[in-house]
Amino acid sequence: MEKFSSFSDKTTGISPFLPTPLHPTLKTYIFHTILIPIKLFTMIPVLLISPLLTLFPNTYKIIIDVILAYFFNLSETEFAIDGVRRLDEKIKISKSPRNGDIIIVNSTGPLDIFVWKMLSENPKNVKIGIANGDGIGIINNWISFVNWCFTGSLNLPNEAKKNIVHITDIDATSSNVDGVSDLKKFVGENGILYVIVEGTITNNKGILSFPRGFDVGAFAKMAISCNYGFKIMSLKVLPTGISNTVIPTNFWYWIFLNFGSMSMNLKYRIKMTVLFDKYTKNGSENVDPSMITDTLIRTILANNSRLKLLSSEMDVKKKREYIQAVLDSREKKYV
Ligand SMILES: *[C@@H]1O[C@H](CO)[C@@H](O)[C@H](O)[C@H]1NC(C)=O
Ligand SMILES: *[C@@H]1O[C@H](CO)[C@@H](O)[C@H](O)[C@H]1NC(C)=O
Ligand SMILES: *[C@@H]1O[C@H](CO)[C@@H](O)[C@H](O)[C@H]1NC(C)=O
Ligand SMILES: *[C@@H]1O[C@H](CO)[C@@H](O)[C@H](O)[C@H]1NC(C)=O
Repeated sequence: MEKFSSFSDKTTGISPFLPTPLHPTLKTYIFHTILIPIKLFTMIPVLLISPLLTLFPNTYKIIIDVILAYFFNLSETEFAIDGVRRLDEKIKISKSPRNGDIIIVNSTGPLDIFVWKMLSENPKNVKIGIANGDGIGIINNWISFVNWCFTGSLNLPNEAKKNIVHITDIDATSSNVDGVSDLKKFVGENGILYVIVEGTITNNKGILSFPRGFDVGAFAKMAISCNYGFKIMSLKVLPTGISNTVIPTNFWYWIFLNFGSMSMNLKYRIKMTVLFDKYTKNGSENVDPSMITDTLIRTILANNSRLKLLSSEMDVKKKREYIQAVLDSREKKYV
């Protein structure tokens, strides 16, 4: 571990790329081996009728909920919106991720997309954007997202490489407007775009610097000028580690651990801040787009805790170096 100390944050000491060590016991192995076939068998009816039920957004959400709870031990999704009372269901629904919203998020692993779908006005409209130096790579297909998670979430999936939205400075009259038309093309009027702004997955400990060249403030201005809503959502999963895929993770091992258990105990804690609500009547609560900066978004994403903001060299590039260093050291061990 000492060896990799250059990959922890200088000021806070946080190591955002270190996976939580898991030590499944023999009992877990036996238990899960017995339970997985039983679970699969009892799920067959649900899986068979689900294509039909996904036609309706609300039943679609219930199915996702059931599958997450039953297959993945997800017992609770706690969803709070800044400035909205916990029990005020009506306002909560009106502020939740709606059609035509862009939501800046941090990501923990493959289950995130299903949780995002569950929270959104219409799960079918959910798209994922991955921030990188060139802009935002958009994916429509949940399988691409899940693959990206298991491969260490370092490189854009092929689907995203084809659908890049370049960030256009809408204030500069001379700049090209390709970004604007691509955003409208790839997200559409009713799309709900979740942008993984760190450009990768971390282990729940801190917020990375955003990929070099990715100007989230300019993106916010561009998005709002195209009539999208703009929100920030921070995600935490407890207990950390089981469902998290911070480094390349074996799919079957992950499935084995996450699929097998009977009692439910995985929890998502989600907090959202609405910066620009496109559905609000008078707009007085909306933040002036010119005030939306990289720092503002990072601070809100860190749930307003400056302790969680990592220094500028801690970013997706650093994670790439970390994973390379781990691979190299393994190779050395075997020669
Ligand atoms: C599911 O819940 C049980 C009981 O709380 C726990 O022992 C087990 O580790 C959990 N499994 C997962 C994958 O969260
Ligand atoms: C954000 O902070 C509040 C308290 O300030 C806490 O209750 C909540 O769980 C935090 N949310 C996340 C997603 O960390
Ligand atoms: C706008 O809405 C807010 C709350 O939603 C309210 O407090 C305020 O009075 C409204 N302003 C106008 C001009 O209607
Ligand atoms: C996402 O951000 C929240 C708030 O700062 C934090 O509690 C959580 O651990 C972060 N999750 C990941 C995977 O980095």
